[in-house]
Amino acid sequence: MRFTVAEDYESASRAAAEVILAEVARKPDAVLCLPTGSTPERTYAILAERARADPQIFASVRIVQLDEWGGLPRGDDSTCQAYLTRHVLGPLKVGPERFLGFDSDPTDPAAECAKFRERLAALGGIDLCLLGLGENGHIGLNEPADALEPFAHVAELSEHSRRHKMLTGKDTRRLYGLTLGVAEILQSRRVLLIVSGKHKARPLAELKSGRISTRCPASLLWLHPQAECICDRDALVTPCRDVRSPVAEHTDPV
Ligand code: GLP
Repeated sequence: MRFTVAEDYESASRAAAEVILAEVARKPDAVLCLPTGSTPERTYAILAERARADPQIFASVRIVQLDEWGGLPRGDDSTCQAYLTRHVLGPLKVGPERFLGFDSDPTDPAAECAKFRERLAALGGIDLCLLGLGENGHIGLNEPADALEPFAHVAELSEHSRRHKMLTGKDTRRLYGLTLGVAEILQSRRVLLIVSGKHKARPLAELKSGRISTRCPASLLWLHPQAECICDRDALVTPCRDVRSPVAEHTDPV
């Protein structure tokens, strides 16, 4: 796994945007799997600026949604799909025919995941999978556990995830995750993890230790031949806890 240290959030975002642009230049109809959250916001804004300057760049690109807050009403502003529409699909002008997403409120969540798995396979897999890092070490909504799921599945949300900024003000008790599995992520041709901010220092230190554990799902990225992590200096601040101890769920960030 290759680590690139950027000076700050802006430089990390610019570096990540360059990786995405290079991928699209290499393959104009590339399949990009994209996360939500605060981390990639600036990267997406940079892509939007580029799309305004040259609308052709993203004319054939295909977008896959990494994960979704299951149980939120369809179209709710806090869904990952609404986020991707605001930050990516709208600005980059990617229509529904070039987007694969999860329905946030399916009558049968397991069937929704089965459908998603088939449609992802029909796309031929992912060319570039962009990821954010959960404060508990999660990727997508693959939460720390004794065992992880390979394919798109319904996930129980950790307490960390229920407290995510995107869910502020929501009753999260009945929510669950809909997420790509770790095999689908690892089968992506290329994986790029962006990590920014002091609050990510602990999971980043755990990841950098090189210890592979399902208790830190991001650590499975060490198994990928072309995984890259772009982090900023803030995220590199040494955490005060022993970095080799597993990232425990339900604990507050150090
Ligand atoms: C949530 C999202 C993920 C995201 C992660 C990190 O779980 N569903 O897609 O990568 O949080 O979010 P943030 O970048 O806001 O820290």
